[in-house]
Amino acid sequence: MIFGAILAGGVGSRMKIADRPKQFLPLGEKPILIHTLEKFLLCSRFEKIYIGVHEKWVLYAKDLIKKYISEPERVEIVEGGKDRNLTIMSIIDGIERDYGASDDHIIVTHDSVRPFVSIRIIEENIDAALKYGACDTVIPATDTIVRSDDGKFITEIPERRLMYQGQTPQSFNMSLLKNTYNSLSDEQKAILTDACKILVVANIPVSLVQGDVANMKITAIEDYRVAEAMAGGEKRD
Ligand code: CTP
Repeated sequence: MIFGAILAGGVGSRMKIADRPKQFLPLGEKPILIHTLEKFLLCSRFEKIYIGVHEKWVLYAKDLIKKYISEPERVEIVEGGKDRNLTIMSIIDGIERDYGASDDHIIVTHDSVRPFVSIRIIEENIDAALKYGACDTVIPATDTIVRSDDGKFITEIPERRLMYQGQTPQSFNMSLLKNTYNSLSDEQKAILTDACKILVVANIPVSLVQGDVANMKITAIEDYRVAEAMAGGEKRD
């Protein structure tokens, strides 16, 4: 079975203006999280779409689903974890509780704060996860990437044509992801903010899906302003 996993367990500490986590801020007529969820609901291959939400915001998120979503039976809210990967693990626990464990389950994980993801990207993620076991969504780096180990001087300038920027979704064979995560030490787990890196540190191949510049992440207030302008444009199109 194929499951959506929308990660909404963060509190948006880099978004200073907000009275609530940024995924609940409005974009046009509805919250960012609802825009993201609606994109996933357009894909009929999902058995169910799980959303991992910070414990303090679970009831609030449930109310939003009631208010905005016409097929609430396709959506399940679970409590998120202390970091992003633990939110994914909490969603996997929820899926295994509801559907049982299986080596065939696929999970499409996505940042709740990337509301402009396209159906093409979601479909290609599912296909790549089925074929290769794991995939990441990326766009070619347009800026030159400069590496500095001390923050003062350049250590290295890698060849730009080999560099990509990571987006989400990141999609996986669910048992591959869970078993690999559980095989890591606590120290390794603590420094992994990225789900694909769970497999990369274990030398497991992760394939690439072509992302889109429009699939931006709302991290800070400037991104929110850009997203508001883009949402206005989407409505007019
Ligand atoms: N996320 C999550 N569970 C966590 C932390 C983050 O599901 N424990 C989610 C966020 O809700 C967001 C995505 O991961 O959709 C990307 O994270 P980020 O932009 O860093 O969001 P926050 O952690 O909310 O922001 P900040 O780092 O500024 O606190």
